[in-house]
Amino acid sequence: MNRRAGLFSPYRRLRTMRRALWVRVRWVNAIWVRGIWIVGLAAIVLACASLRIAEARQNEKTAAAPPQQFLNARPGVEYVGDESCRKCHASVYQTFKQTGMGRSVSIPSPDDLRELAKPVKIINQKLNQTYSIYARDGKIIHEESESDSKGRVIFSETHEIAYTVGAGDVGKSYLVAKGDSLFVSPISYYERIRGWDLSPGYSEGAFHGFTRRVVELCVDCHTGQPLLVAGSHNRFQQPPFRFLTVGCERCHGPGATHVRQHTEEAALGLPIDEAAIDLSIVNPRKLRPEIRDDVCAQCHLAGDARVLLPGKTYLDFRPGTSLGDVVSIFSVPQQIKGNHFVALDQFEQLKLSRCWAASNGKLGCISCHDPHVQLRGDQATNSFRSRCLSCHTTSSCRAPLAQRQATSPPDNCISCHMPKQPTENIGHSSITDHRILRTPSEIPAALQSADSSFPTDLIFDTKSAGSGDAQANLRGLALAHSQVAARFPELGEKGLALLEQAAAAFPNDAEIEAAYGSALRVARPRDEERAARAFQKAIDAGSKSAEVRTQLARLRMQQGQVTAAMDLYKESIQLDPYFAPAYLDLAQVYSMLKDRQNALQILDGVLKIDPGNDAARQQRIKVEALPD
Ligand code: HEC
Ligand code: HEC
Ligand code: HEC
Ligand code: HEC
Ligand code: HEC
Ligand code: HEC
Ligand code: HEC
Repeated sequence: MNRRAGLFSPYRRLRTMRRALWVRVRWVNAIWVRGIWIVGLAAIVLACASLRIAEARQNEKTAAAPPQQFLNARPGVEYVGDESCRKCHASVYQTFKQTGMGRSVSIPSPDDLRELAKPVKIINQKLNQTYSIYARDGKIIHEESESDSKGRVIFSETHEIAYTVGAGDVGKSYLVAKGDSLFVSPISYYERIRGWDLSPGYSEGAFHGFTRRVVELCVDCHTGQPLLVAGSHNRFQQPPFRFLTVGCERCHGPGATHVRQHTEEAALGLPIDEAAIDLSIVNPRKLRPEIRDDVCAQCHLAGDARVLLPGKTYLDFRPGTSLGDVVSIFSVPQQIKGNHFVALDQFEQLKLSRCWAASNGKLGCISCHDPHVQLRGDQATNSFRSRCLSCHTTSSCRAPLAQRQATSPPDNCISCHMPKQPTENIGHSSITDHRILRTPSEIPAALQSADSSFPTDLIFDTKSAGSGDAQANLRGLALAHSQVAARFPELGEKGLALLEQAAAAFPNDAEIEAAYGSALRVARPRDEERAARAFQKAIDAGSKSAEVRTQLARLRMQQGQVTAAMDLYKESIQLDPYFAPAYLDLAQVYSMLKDRQNALQILDGVLKIDPGNDAARQQRIKVEALPD
């Protein structure tokens, strides 16, 4: 099966709750239902360069090199940053910086501070917590606190906002720093209410306080280039981002070769040959459909499970190559997820449309979107209309003319065929109906015909024609199952079987062993030793995970191996000082051993990293009551 067939498959799609929690990616809750590169060269070098370039261009034209072989799609070409592009592409730069993508992350500004001249207070009755947002010493502060019935403060935790995520079309979230890790604030800004409220997932109890980690994928989709500490998924270098916002090179690939070439050409006064294929930089328009859409899919197709290929990071993806070479993206079949259109992202919806199915790869995100400009109002509708008319004619539409003239502006294709969801604000899912239906209320034909066969396999979104490697696919599929298992228990047994096969096929794969151990704990709770063996193998294979150690420690406790368990808890804390479960468990062990002093010390440790941790506070009261 080739990759397109996979993407065309009518069954995919439909997000549900996992996405709901942004656990990996999605943002949904009641409200969000969801150095400039100038190369100084001597005259002689210039002359040589001039010859070389002219020659290269000639070769490009005569040899008709396939446009896919972009020089900057290779590893090793340097990123230069948007400012370098500005010099020669000033107008693209200007308009792009006003789009949502061009403002995807920001540092709190004087304007933001002015907005908070009057502090904001939110009281959440359900959680019995108070949240405050205010400016202090030129910084924005988020605070969470709780008081008892007499008004005495039980705890209060404050953090300075380091980054704002989101331009704000739907909303904004905020990041705080603790050491070299970033965490999501429990408070977000919602454009719909033009005010602040709990971040998605918090009022449902999925997250609390300032404990939700920012993992690599979150910042990989939202920033220009996150700089992770090697081997970590949530610790960052200083500063954490080389480029703050989504930038030119995320869609065009690294720019060093292109900038050098054009700087040399400009210095030589060479004429610009518009007709030549410029292999120094990727223009997505010139890519074949699958890899063209991959440029957008890196961030706009979250999938239900994403598994990086061994040794890869998200930043290894280069526009002009296949996304599947870096990450395997899987979706849960729609029959399992349930049909709920609002929770789909644009890719998933678009693939349900007739326009997509019948246009043979011609339709892609850029058939309608110019990512350099974000048009609004009539300008936007007129532009989109002209995009429809690049494939349709005004007489393609069968609706009565009078009805079509009655829209504003008249004959606004979008208002009837791609309406917005009026009532809900949704982050990470389309607000605009990208299914392009004849009438918005109908069920897409692609889904109607799907009833007869009920697929139970995950859909492999990034399977490319070249990725026929069954072994590699087994690894991806097994790990994908482990990612979706909590949300879709019906996939659990199959996941376990796949993990078992994968563990046999990849004996030293830390990730597989860790996932296998977790799956065993759920599916075979009495077989402690088997799960323990898997976790131990994961550690032996180099896993740096605090969670793996804590899971193993729990099994050791069950087996009565207290000393081994305590060592594992201590290692967990050392590897991840913000991992509260390890502290809580260890404190439990100390209190079991009647070691009051160490138990109190550990619990104080939790309350230091997580003052709102109620379990730690309760446990502390009990331990204090123990005799000395
Ligand atoms: C020194 C001037 C210069 C700089 C700096 C520069 N470009 Fe260009 N770029 C050009 C010229 C001239 C063209 C048009 C001729 C061509 O395509 O060969 C061009 C064309 C392009 C194209 C279209 C290529 C095609 O085949 O359609 C893209 C995309 C592009 N530039 C992106 C960038 C990005 C991204 C940066 C920053 C990393 C950048 N440029 C920096 C001069 C420059
Ligand atoms: C590096 C990740 C990334 C890539 C690559 C990417 N996008 Fe985006 N896109 C985003 C994010 C993040 C937002 C939301 C920005 C915000 O509002 O804060 C967004 C928003 C948008 C929007 C809404 C308008 C706007 O500018 O905010 C459109 C339309 C869009 N993207 C289209 C595309 C298309 C088309 C492509 C491929 C050519 C693409 N994107 C590639 C991350 C990306
Ligand atoms: C797979 C890529 C991806 C991941 C991971 C991801 N986002 Fe997003 N996010 C997007 C895209 C694309 C959009 C805009 C378009 C949309 O809604 O589909 C968006 C929209 C948003 C918005 C609304 C922006 C606006 O202008 O209204 C916020 C806020 C946000 N994301 C925060 C986060 C946070 C915080 C995380 C991590 C905890 C995260 N996102 C993880 C891709 C991602
Ligand atoms: C979200 C993806 C994305 C980002 C970010 C992006 N571009 Fe583009 N760019 C495209 C696509 C897609 C095309 C092809 C547009 C078309 O032909 O409709 C393109 C085309 C171009 C072109 C050639 C044709 C033209 O429209 O002038 C230049 C030059 C260019 N981009 C420069 C830039 C620069 C400079 C930046 C950063 C300021 C940038 N792009 C950011 C996706 C992107
Ligand atoms: C890349 C080409 C392309 C673009 C752009 C495009 N379409 Fe289509 N569309 C098609 C094809 C091909 C079909 C199927 C044959 C047909 O019905 O004409 C189709 C079918 C449709 C249908 C019938 C759907 C059904 O379920 O029967 C509607 C409605 C539609 N398009 C509306 C639009 C609107 C509105 C736009 C602009 C927002 C648009 N299309 C943009 C190619 C395109
Ligand atoms: C047939 C035309 C068409 C195609 C193809 C298309 N879009 Fe859109 N898209 C629209 C329209 C129309 C809007 C509403 C824009 C507005 O109101 O200004 C929109 C809005 C968006 C938004 C803003 C959030 C939202 O849902 O309103 C994002 C993000 C986006 N599109 C991404 C994509 C991506 C990614 C693809 C490719 C998978 C894509 N679009 C393909 C027409 C299209
Ligand atoms: C007032 C709402 C409205 C507007 C505006 C509108 N359409 Fe339609 N369109 C419809 C309805 C309703 C149908 C289904 C008619 C039927 O099946 O009898 C339809 C059908 C279609 C079809 C499918 C025709 C077929 O042969 O099955 C296409 C393609 C289409 N429209 C394209 C467009 C394009 C392109 C525009 C803008 C130039 C547009 N429509 C504007 C309401 C509208």
